Amino acid sequence: MKKTIAVVGATGAQGGGLVRAILNDPQGGFSARALTRDVNSEKAIELAKLGAEVVAADVDDLESLKKAFQGAHGAFCVTFFWAHFSPERELAEAANMARAAKNAAVQHVIWSTLEDTRQWVPLSDNRMPTLMGKYKVPHLDAKGEANQFFTDLSLPVTFLLTSFYWDNFIYFGMGPAKGPDGKLAITLPMGDKKLPGIAAEDIGRCAYGIFKRGREFIGKTVGIAGEHLTGAQMAAAFSRALGQEVSYNDVAPEVYRSFGFPGAEDLGNMFQFKRDFNEYFCGARPPQVARDLNPALQTFDVWLAQHRAHIPLG
Ligand SMILES: NC(=O)c1ccc[n+]([C@@H]2O[C@H](COP(=O)([O-])OP(=O)(O)OC[C@H]3O[C@@H](n4cnc5c(N)ncnc54)[C@H](OP(=O)(O)O)[C@@H]3O)[C@@H](O)[C@H]2O)c1
Repeated sequence: MKKTIAVVGATGAQGGGLVRAILNDPQGGFSARALTRDVNSEKAIELAKLGAEVVAADVDDLESLKKAFQGAHGAFCVTFFWAHFSPERELAEAANMARAAKNAAVQHVIWSTLEDTRQWVPLSDNRMPTLMGKYKVPHLDAKGEANQFFTDLSLPVTFLLTSFYWDNFIYFGMGPAKGPDGKLAITLPMGDKKLPGIAAEDIGRCAYGIFKRGREFIGKTVGIAGEHLTGAQMAAAFSRALGQEVSYNDVAPEVYRSFGFPGAEDLGNMFQFKRDFNEYFCGARPPQVARDLNPALQTFDVWLAQHRAHIPLG
């Protein structure tokens, strides 16, 4: 009997990586149950063809989650901040997943979380603005605050601290863009500090590694990254991969916050948090831990070599 892992966000980046990791290891003893709001979507059908059990569920609908988690050994839980930009909704969704996991008595939950930055930067700290009334970095703070839903229910949970996806250079408008001088640059407010980054696909592979280790990581926080790189190091890697010079445009966090795109203030605060608490933030995400869980862990150079053709150059 294989142990079933119910995977939230299975048609997306984190969950998709986990589903594929399970299906790519048929002797591993696990089977994948892919949760989606639309079992007839192209991506859902693709997962079914690969061998996943595809079931309908919506993280905003507790009853659908209870059904989808029923009989599962494990559950991978993730929320979708950028689909709605609401930390309150993220909190409610995490609470739903925790309740559904308790209801189904799953034996291992992985909650894909991030830091509640208010533990480092209280709202009274003016080095970065308070956003939405009670957050410093809304899309991080809500995830960290939601940890309590899992502990309050005494769930057998592993808190997975993820890192910046290098895929943001493709899908999140963060790729090299031409400056006023006509030269390509990546823009990040990180100063000379290192940004822990990871190939999004590797997050799910690491989660699979955690499930495979049985009870070892229950009750623990596991931070993962592929590599920790400065902006200058990433720019140099882009230059090598693209065969043309890419420089690092280091801007102040307040400049980044003023860029005006949706979420710019949230991301400006996020990068400032990662810059100002760099030793903690990098220390919480040792690449060696990720590599132990997932021996195929990609470095930035390896990721770039595979994806350079898809990186839009603005
Ligand atoms: N970008 C980064 O660098 C980064 C780094 C660390 C953490 N994160 C966090 O990662 C989270 C997103 O994870 P991801 O990147 O794996 O997401 P994603 O690739 O955007 O995938 C989202 C998937 O989730 C499903 N989904 C959306 N709303 C849903 C709902 N209400 N109920 C059930 N499923 C729903 C959708 O599937 P269906 O349409 O099939 O239902 C979609 O395919 C965000 O909260 C973000 O803050 C991002």
